[in-house]
Amino acid sequence: MFKLYPRQILNSRGEPTLEVKLITDSFLVEASVPGGKSVSTKEAQPLRDKKEAYDGLTVEESIEKINTIIAPAIESMDLSRPLEIDEKMLSLDPTLKKTKLGANSLLAVSLAVYKAASITLRLPLYRLISQLAGTKINLPTPLINIINGGLHSHQTTEFQEYHLIPNFPNKPFAFLLSQSWLVLQNLIQLVNQEKKQWGYGDEGGISCLFNSNAEPFQLLKKAVQGAGFSLGTDFYFGLDAAANNFYRQGKYSLREKKTTLSSQELLNYYQELITSFPLQVIEDPFAEEDSTGWKLSQKLLDKKAIIVADDLTSTNPYLFPKIEESASFDSVLIKPNQIGTIKETLQFAKMAKAKKKNLIVSHRSGETCDPFIADLAVGLGSKFVKFGNIRQGERVVKYNRLLEIASELTND
Ligand code: PGA
Ligand code: ZN
Repeated sequence: MFKLYPRQILNSRGEPTLEVKLITDSFLVEASVPGGKSVSTKEAQPLRDKKEAYDGLTVEESIEKINTIIAPAIESMDLSRPLEIDEKMLSLDPTLKKTKLGANSLLAVSLAVYKAASITLRLPLYRLISQLAGTKINLPTPLINIINGGLHSHQTTEFQEYHLIPNFPNKPFAFLLSQSWLVLQNLIQLVNQEKKQWGYGDEGGISCLFNSNAEPFQLLKKAVQGAGFSLGTDFYFGLDAAANNFYRQGKYSLREKKTTLSSQELLNYYQELITSFPLQVIEDPFAEEDSTGWKLSQKLLDKKAIIVADDLTSTNPYLFPKIEESASFDSVLIKPNQIGTIKETLQFAKMAKAKKKNLIVSHRSGETCDPFIADLAVGLGSKFVKFGNIRQGERVVKYNRLLEIASELTND
């Protein structure tokens, strides 16, 4: 027997979100759900009250659904069998987008249940996940979102995220972070020297006005070299274009260009960037609706770029087989709140792995201090993680958990 206690808390943007405490006779766990700003059309929907407070974002109805529907159905279930508890919750809300009970209600409970299962079974959470998914444990490389643009930074660039990617094979995870931190310090010095007005974006990266979508890479290049590192060897770059957000009526609209771009022209732009900078990872290069673009992305794969689907696949195991057949990508983002339960998240990860895709476990821009996704990433054997910049409590709590797991694994 266990008891669920849901309540409303605030996320890193100060918006309401949901936390659940799960209490048994012998322990307590708590879990909370993040929220996105750059959301796809396929994502499962959180329940929001649509009242006046917090612009309609409060979660009283979600709390009510947990108390009156979810809790009575699962509180007597066996915590050592978390997949069965998820299955039960899914039977209570069989809708495509979890509109009946809310993706936030389901996920808060689901996260708490897997944490409780790991205590009940006396297994670290990442080991439990690896057993349930049949995946091999791996410590991922961080895609550090060091410059924020797009919706996370009041449109200072159209592209949303500029990633710094450390490449120090066989070095400990702590070393990757410490070297990346040196680049961050250099970047801050540079924006100060250049007297740019700047601040921090939603995911903790530097936010300032740029004249083009390529300019952040120029700055980042200087920061890497200024910190004494070799570009393309010690560090390379990644990008989340989040192209949904600048796609209008079949064309891409970038302020720096006089006219809108076709999918082919946007592809040419990416190819120029790959030639000018050590850019090796591109997420959502095209909008989720742009099937022409998602075929052209093969050209980027041919150039050895890693192409990541986020909005396109939306952690959805039901849609994945069809999408995978008609679009060219070799990696997928994994965000549990895009689908609603950990069971479905693991199902999606297994499907993607079976198709030889790299997994990249990711946070959302509106985060909480729940570190669950660090264990999820290690347990699923993720190649990379996206946890934002290496600052701000809600981001570093995940990096800190990876540091903890890394030292556990080296002492094994
Ligand atoms: P979001 O963006 O969390 O604001 O939706 C993250 C992403 O697009 O990867
Ligand atoms: Zn994305």
